[in-house]
Amino acid sequence: MPAVRRFGVSMSSDLLRAFDRLIKRKGYKNRSEAIRDIVRDLLVRNEWEESDQEVMGAVTLLYDHETGHVPETLTDLQHRQHDAIVCSTHVHMDQHNCLETIVVRGTSRVVRTIADQLLSTRGVKHGGLVSTSTGRTLP
Ligand code: NI
Repeated sequence: MPAVRRFGVSMSSDLLRAFDRLIKRKGYKNRSEAIRDIVRDLLVRNEWEESDQEVMGAVTLLYDHETGHVPETLTDLQHRQHDAIVCSTHVHMDQHNCLETIVVRGTSRVVRTIADQLLSTRGVKHGGLVSTSTGRTLP
């Protein structure tokens, strides 16, 4: 396990009080735990901005399978990008609505492009991309 280093952080007491209230609501046990998560999040977001880094994304889509050709269009899109598609999960929510989550791997540009294509498919009611790191570059 790598060595743990301590460092001091200066901020106004108002900012610190607001931070303490927030991390308590979010369930953090202490400031160090919260700051570590914030630093990791910043590193992942930075990795995302560098297009040559490999990243991962989870695209979640909600659609009515009886509207247009949504299932066929989404399947065609995934087959065309099969190298980048890791897996997908389909949930039949009720008689009409489907929830699908598609895991995508590649450069941030590739993941963003595939997510945009899936999300802009006509008939998709709602959805979004959660982008993350492969974890390999994170300490
Ligand atoms: Ni379904």
